[in-house]
Amino acid sequence: MANSSDPTTLKTEDQLKEESWFGFPMKVYQGFWCLNVLFEGVTSFQNNFEAKDSDIILASLPKTGTTWLKSLLFAIVNRNNLCGDLSKLPFHTKTPHEIVLHLEIEVYKNFNGTPPDNILDVPSPRLFATHMPYLSLPDSIKGSKCRIVYVSRNPLDTFVSIWHFYLQFEISKGVNPSKEMMEEYLGKYCTGVSPFGPYEDHLLGYWKETQKNPKHVLFLEYEGLKKEPKAHLKRLAEFVGCPFSEEEDKKNVIDEIIELCSIKSMKEMEVNKTGKFYPWVENKALFRKGEVGDWNNHLTTSMAKGFHQMLQKLPGWFFFYI
Ligand code: A3P
Repeated sequence: MANSSDPTTLKTEDQLKEESWFGFPMKVYQGFWCLNVLFEGVTSFQNNFEAKDSDIILASLPKTGTTWLKSLLFAIVNRNNLCGDLSKLPFHTKTPHEIVLHLEIEVYKNFNGTPPDNILDVPSPRLFATHMPYLSLPDSIKGSKCRIVYVSRNPLDTFVSIWHFYLQFEISKGVNPSKEMMEEYLGKYCTGVSPFGPYEDHLLGYWKETQKNPKHVLFLEYEGLKKEPKAHLKRLAEFVGCPFSEEEDKKNVIDEIIELCSIKSMKEMEVNKTGKFYPWVENKALFRKGEVGDWNNHLTTSMAKGFHQMLQKLPGWFFFYI
């Protein structure tokens, strides 16, 4: 896609492009692929959101660990209001997506009915999430001192994850998944045609910003969090202004948060076994395997080669954990 990282230079034909993602129409908007169903929420978020310096915003591409980070961030920010009892966190009754709302999906376009009036009028620090690329965030976020946490993930695992997630809608329509169908979507993903993609533009947009302003954007990798969760949680807590004390460390608070927010623990919670996130998404679909390298079980060597060009555009450090 020509000049996709610069919204001002997008060619007219790009703006007119339409594609389908598992039956959901998408169009190019400011250089990224926006699902039509989210377009209203995206523009309303851009036009109306007033960031506060104390806000914490989780940014990510779909299927890169958003749900996990929502639970970790919420636990880190709210742990001191619980008299030391982490079981008081609301994870047993709500999914992390109901606790930390997506700005363009739930706050400015709500699929579960009308959002409460005071949704933006909550005590600081407010915690929200977005899948939007950095360049398309509202100026009030880019110009504020709010903190943005970005989580990235190996694109091969991200593709396998998004494939399984959207496949559920096709299967419910009676479609039998085939190798050809997977190859078709892999081709789309690798050429940037996926919700909020191109993948590499999204990642590089936040990466450039963290280099310019590390106090504004913290860059995390799913694989790093998996491998060294404690070190990453400490970094995350410090970045959002809620560092763990030595006493908390000694009392194993960090380990408790890691355990509570682990995919194993989340999967065991009743709300995540039986509940529905939106009327059409079961909560259990949010927690599949949560493994690094699962792509090896689904993609052939020649399919993996499709990612070659994309991987070449990523900075060298990105391959540290993967
Ligand atoms: P897999 O499909 O590879 O299992 P997102 O939350 O951005 O939609 O990302 C979904 C991916 O994160 C899924 O990956 C899901 O299983 C995994 N995931 C969800 N909760 C997790 C957790 N608590 N720890 C680790 N991975 C988690």
